[in-house]
Amino acid sequence: MLPAKFFYDARGSTLFDEICTLEEYYPTRTELGIMTEHGPDMARVLGPQCKVVEFGSGSGLKTRLLLQQLERPVAYCPIEISQAALEQSVRALEREFPKLAILPVHADYTSNVQIPEVDARRTVVYFPGSTLGNFERDGARAFLQNMRALMGHQGMALVGIDLVKDPNALHAAYNDSLGVTAQFNKNMMHRLRERYGGAISAEDFDHYAFYQPVEARIEMYLVAKRALDWQIKGREVTFAQGEAILTEYSHKYTPASFDALAQEAGLSITHQWMDERARFAVFGLTPKEPS
Ligand code: TRP
Repeated sequence: MLPAKFFYDARGSTLFDEICTLEEYYPTRTELGIMTEHGPDMARVLGPQCKVVEFGSGSGLKTRLLLQQLERPVAYCPIEISQAALEQSVRALEREFPKLAILPVHADYTSNVQIPEVDARRTVVYFPGSTLGNFERDGARAFLQNMRALMGHQGMALVGIDLVKDPNALHAAYNDSLGVTAQFNKNMMHRLRERYGGAISAEDFDHYAFYQPVEARIEMYLVAKRALDWQIKGREVTFAQGEAILTEYSHKYTPASFDALAQEAGLSITHQWMDERARFAVFGLTPKEPS
């Protein structure tokens, strides 16, 4: 298994943006639609003078829709691992929101990140893109617990989640006909090869992704096309033909299964916004009263 954060160098971030525009990849389009249609309602629920903290802000497209709706937001703290993506989005947002304090943090958000302190009425943690689905259950629960600690008693989280649906639609979303997702997946090896060298290439691997309906998740692998022998950092890593590296899971939830997870982290779903076909949801999470 390789950690998914290795996907996101400059090329990986560009390929990812491309995935988001694919016909088969409905989540981004659907979530943008939810943000457009229900943004005013979200802003009403959140109220004025919020500080928005976002994990993995990427190109910041969805954030823009949120910030446009919010009443007098005081600060925006994007946390992003790709320096290129971070700089670009901050520059664009500064132009569009001259009164907003933009406080970027270039970091891996799965590590212990210091968030800049700002006086605000409420901290809003924004975690769109169904990225929480990329964690396994323990990791997802722990991440929600961190979010709860970060937002405090008055806080709220907006979390975008891809919902359980027709397995064929899910399968197609990660097996696009242009092969962009395949390129994105293989970019992981491309990068490791660039960084560590060795007689291995991205094209030595096949992209293989499928929906596992019992675990309700996409499983994405790189599968060795031939026997490989890779010297990396003084170690030898060998693959038999057909041996695989797990590069990512993407868990899908129902409103009930997501609520169960949130409850374990001390949060409740107090609001929920969906598209009319219930393909995707943005959940509003609030800290539970201590019992
Ligand atoms: N979190 C989103 C998802 O799981 C986006 C994403 C992350 C993704 N890694 C990916 C999409 C790899 C396609 C391939 O769908």
